[in-house]
Amino acid sequence: MVNMLLENRVRFQSTALHFYQNRQLELYASKEAKRLTLRQLVFFGRSMDEDRLIKSANYVRTELAVRIAHRLRDLQALPYVVVTQEGVAKVYELYWSAFEQFRRFPPINNIEENKAFCESLRKLLDEHAVVIPNLSLGLSLSSPYLAPELLDSFMRRMLISRISRRVLAEHHLALSGSYNGKVEESGATERHVGIIYTGLNVKQSIDKCTKLLKERSHHIDENYGVPSTYWPDVIVDGHLDTNFAYIKEHVEYIFFELLKNAMLATIQKYHDAATLPPIRATIVAGNNDVGIRISDQGGGLLIPQIKSPSDLFSFSHVRNATRMEHSRLGALRTVSSDPRGVKATVEEQVEPQSESPEKGVGMAASPRIGIGLPMSNIFATYFGGSLELISLDGWGTDVYIRLPKLGTNLEGIEV
Ligand code: COI
Repeated sequence: MVNMLLENRVRFQSTALHFYQNRQLELYASKEAKRLTLRQLVFFGRSMDEDRLIKSANYVRTELAVRIAHRLRDLQALPYVVVTQEGVAKVYELYWSAFEQFRRFPPINNIEENKAFCESLRKLLDEHAVVIPNLSLGLSLSSPYLAPELLDSFMRRMLISRISRRVLAEHHLALSGSYNGKVEESGATERHVGIIYTGLNVKQSIDKCTKLLKERSHHIDENYGVPSTYWPDVIVDGHLDTNFAYIKEHVEYIFFELLKNAMLATIQKYHDAATLPPIRATIVAGNNDVGIRISDQGGGLLIPQIKSPSDLFSFSHVRNATRMEHSRLGALRTVSSDPRGVKATVEEQVEPQSESPEKGVGMAASPRIGIGLPMSNIFATYFGGSLELISLDGWGTDVYIRLPKLGTNLEGIEV
């Protein structure tokens, strides 16, 4: 009898707790995200004083709670069969926990309190490194139960919102890290304000990604099964002195992925040739955008499972049958359970993993989880740019990237 009463009480308390938590969620989810432009991020961070830094901290504290609440509501609206798939519950738990931490974090009034806030922020960023593989795994397994349009629009909202939250968090951490207590050009050096490079040189970034890929080709080809003797050259032409303000990590992620695909396609097509046809990267500085075309002669996108090149961005197996391949699901499971999750920067992607002594320093980078292209597309469109793939079947692939250069577009997140 006592046990029953106790059980009932516990049940009542947990129902009441859920009810209260959900009411809090509704409260935050009903608020609109305060979207920013890249220019606002730069101007705000350019001359920093304590007051501005504290304003930034409180904006991030409240804004992240709102943005996560929107995505929690999105997750709650999924059919039950999706929620029960491997990986989805993990993402849901991480989001609930982060939502509660931001919601409960008291207002920040001074530098000391900001320090504590930054510590929690860094910890959350690290914990959330596993979100993408878990989400990809769960949604790939859910693919048979969801219409392709629904699955892709859900994933797009989840991923773009995640990028936006990480941008706000990383920008605030960078501004806080370089603020040293004086009213000055803090957070701003000649080259960057927070995480935004104000004079990002496009050719330099392409060259850097080419170099990293070539230096580390022997790690990458273990995963791709191509010989490592030599990788194709990349010829860069067009407006070679193009500079603009952008988030370097995003631009380099895109270049790295696209050059990697172009190189692998070329090697696979010309595997026994004495020389490989080069890849050409053409840069054009327009009035409003920076355009980059990457052309390879790797044979084009003749993939039996794909009808249209844009289907490569899809997470649905109906559009892209590779989504449910065993090898990919296996790779996703491996990355999902690795606390380091998906590597954020191109340097990390090719970083030797010294903790695999049996395979030697420099063991393969991330296994193939098939998110490079959809993520590149999402990075390109975040501030209103675009990424298009055009296949000249039997010859090669051209990728057109357009990145806005004025920084006046709002983040492309959906509420
Ligand atoms: C994410 O990476 O998924 C986030 O939401 C980051 C945020 C907790 C700072």
